[in-house]
Amino acid sequence: MAFKIGLLGLGTVGTGVAKILLDPVGRNPLIKEITIERVGVRSLSKTRDISLSPDLFTTTLEEIVTDPDIDIVVELLGGLEPSRSLILKAIENGKHIVTANKAVIARYGEEIYTAANEAGVYVLLEGAVGGGIPVIKPLKQSLGANRINSIIGIVNGTTNYILTQMTQEKADFDDVLAEAQKLGYAEADPTADVDGLDAADKIAILASLGFGGRVKREDVYCEGIRQVSAVDINYADRLGFIIKLLAIAKGSKGDASDTLELRVHPTLVPKTHPLASINGVYNAILVEGEPLGQVMFFGRGAGEGPTASAVVSDIMNIVAILSSGGDSKTLEPLLTCTHQHYCNL
Ligand code: HSE
Repeated sequence: MAFKIGLLGLGTVGTGVAKILLDPVGRNPLIKEITIERVGVRSLSKTRDISLSPDLFTTTLEEIVTDPDIDIVVELLGGLEPSRSLILKAIENGKHIVTANKAVIARYGEEIYTAANEAGVYVLLEGAVGGGIPVIKPLKQSLGANRINSIIGIVNGTTNYILTQMTQEKADFDDVLAEAQKLGYAEADPTADVDGLDAADKIAILASLGFGGRVKREDVYCEGIRQVSAVDINYADRLGFIIKLLAIAKGSKGDASDTLELRVHPTLVPKTHPLASINGVYNAILVEGEPLGQVMFFGRGAGEGPTASAVVSDIMNIVAILSSGGDSKTLEPLLTCTHQHYCNL
């Protein structure tokens, strides 16, 4: 069976997705069933690091979400609009969605998932948190028996890269930021990274999944790393600490809106703590649950390859479900979680 995808966006991650799909040798055979039907871009004249037929490209993104031939819309535009509207329109047109857009899910997750549940389509978002680290699905499914006590993560690769370089190489903030942008880690507008907004989006999503209550993005206290100086890093070091931008969700399962503590800020982490050794663009998410105890997810949290890995795996998950004979509605109970949010993974 062939499944057709429409890519919204061909930036760093979109290019990575196309590269995987165009190079199926040695990968799961399911990849060969996926074809890129259309690619929505902002500019047709941009030079790109991928060989795709120019016939696939359009700047009219609406065409993709309404195209009757497309089964899965892969939203990689980032930002709130037009992403939110395009996702909702695609759902209305019966398309399954794969997205790596943490900003839109953190703010409009409830609206999007309500629409998806009504339409009987899937919205998968593994690439939205932790880049290539499988954390969304494990948190929702493999840890489902646990009462989650805390989720503490280094979930922004750019800031971890900057803090690591400032600590280990005594490098200057601005130089490292420019390098992170060149390497494709930082968002086009690095404000979201350095001011902690990207990490706040991600912890809002993780908290919503882990604690199952209504988590509002605006409830996340947020402080970035602009104020962290070489002097701070030096004193922290002498006292046995390392400075990390942590995203923290602590509370008890159930009525998260009353009891959940949600914050992102530079934190003095003891050098012996498991998160202290997470360096460079790597991310790690430490989950503590009862009766499990601690489990840590670790891997490359940003960049073309890691995020594309998560996005393509999500596409393949949907393809696997659809090609197994069932339609999405009949298979829904298999994928429905007990949490109140994001219930059709
Ligand atoms: N800019 C993000 C980061 C990309 O640095 O982690 C992945 O969300």
